[in-house]
Amino acid sequence: MRILVTGGAGFIGSNFVRRMATRPDVDMVTLDALTYAGNLDNLEGVAGRHTFVRGDICDADAVTKAMDGADAVVHFAAESHVDRSIATSAPFIRTNIEGTRVLLEAARECRVRKFVHVSTDEVYGSLGATGYFTEESCLAPNSPYSASKAGSDLLARAYCETYDLPVVITRCSNNYGPYQFPEKLIPLMVIHALEGRELPVYGDGGNVRDWLHVADHCSALEAVLHAGVAGEVYNIGGRNERTNLEIVKMILYIMGRDESLITFVKDRPGHDRRYAIDASKMERELGWTPAYDLERGLTETVAWYVAHREWWESILSGAYREYYERQYGVEL
Ligand code: NAD
Ligand code: TYD
Repeated sequence: MRILVTGGAGFIGSNFVRRMATRPDVDMVTLDALTYAGNLDNLEGVAGRHTFVRGDICDADAVTKAMDGADAVVHFAAESHVDRSIATSAPFIRTNIEGTRVLLEAARECRVRKFVHVSTDEVYGSLGATGYFTEESCLAPNSPYSASKAGSDLLARAYCETYDLPVVITRCSNNYGPYQFPEKLIPLMVIHALEGRELPVYGDGGNVRDWLHVADHCSALEAVLHAGVAGEVYNIGGRNERTNLEIVKMILYIMGRDESLITFVKDRPGHDRRYAIDASKMERELGWTPAYDLERGLTETVAWYVAHREWWESILSGAYREYYERQYGVEL
C-alpha cells in the first residue's frame, strides 16, 4: 500500500509515520510545508520506505505530484493551535479549508481508495457538566480553528456524497505524547516546570479535556485506514477526562515539584468548557481500544521531554531553523 501522509512532520503525523514505517507492506510519502510546527527532527530515524517532500497542500501541482500512485491519503496537515487562530485566523482558513479542498480534488483525479480526514472533537463545540460527543452530535465550533476544521469536515463529506470519493472522517480528543510542539498545554507545562517558570493556567483551570496518548490515536487511525467504512465518521477518545488544573498538578507530582508555580491567567476568549468523547463506535465496529492509561502515558511523556531537552530547546531558540537550512538546504 502506498500512502500519502500530509503534515507528517508535525506532532501526530510524525508519530503515525514512525508507526507505519514498521509495516512491511507500506510505502509512504510525507508532504509537509514545514511551517513553524513542522520539524524534520520529528522524522529522524524513520526507516522503511519513506520519502519526504516539502510542499504546501494548497499547491495543486505539488499535491498531484506527491499523490501520484497513492492508494490512500491520511490527511493531518493543518494549522492546529486555538490561541494562534484567535490571534489571526487567515492561515487556518487557507490551510484547513482550501488545502483540504485541493487534496480532495487531487484524490478524485488519482482515484485513491481511501481518504482519511483527521479531524477533532472540537468541531462539536462545548459540553456542559454531563453527556458525550457522539458521531451524531451537531457541529457547533467556537474558535476559528475548530470552525475551519468543521468546514474541512463538511467538504470531505460532500466529496464523498457528490463524487463517491471514499472519505472517512475521524474526530479525536486532545492528544499528548512525544514530539508535541511546546505551545500546547502538556509540553508547555512540563518545560515551564523544568525551568522553574510560572505555569499559566487559563481562567479557573476547570476546563475539561479528554486526553489520549498519541500512540493510541495512531493505532485508531491505522484501524480506520484498513477497515473504516467510506462515508462514516469515527470518534476517537480515551475516557480520560481531567480538568486542566488536575493535569497540571499531575505533571508537577510526577516531576516532584511543588504547586507554587501554578499561576491563574486571563481566560482564552470563547474557551470551550468541556470535551468528552463517546468512542464506542470505534470499539464496537473496528475493535479498537486504547493501550495507555493517563498516569503511565503522562509519566512517559514527562520522561521524554526531560530526555529530549535538545529537541525543544532548539525549537524555542529558533536554532532549528538555522539547523535545517544548513542540514537540508531548505530555507524556512
Ligand atoms: P501540528 O501543528 O503539530 O502539525 C501540523 C503539521 O502540518 C506540521 O508539520 C506543519 O508543517 C504541517 N502543515 C501546516 N500547514 C501546511 C500546509 N499548508 N501544507 C503542508 N503542510 C502543512 O498538528 P498536530 O497536533 O500533529 O495535528 C495534526 C492533525 O490532527 C490536525 O489536522 C489536527 O486538527 C488534528 N487533531 C489534533 C489533535 C491534538 O490534540 N493535537 C487532536 C485531534 C485532532
Ligand atoms: P491546548 O493544548 O491549546 O489544546 P486545545 O485548546 O485544542 O484543547 O489547550 C488545552 C487546554 O489547556 C485548554 O483548555 C486551554 C488550556 N491551556 C492553559 O490553561 N494554559 C496554557 O498555557 C495552554 C497552552 C492551554
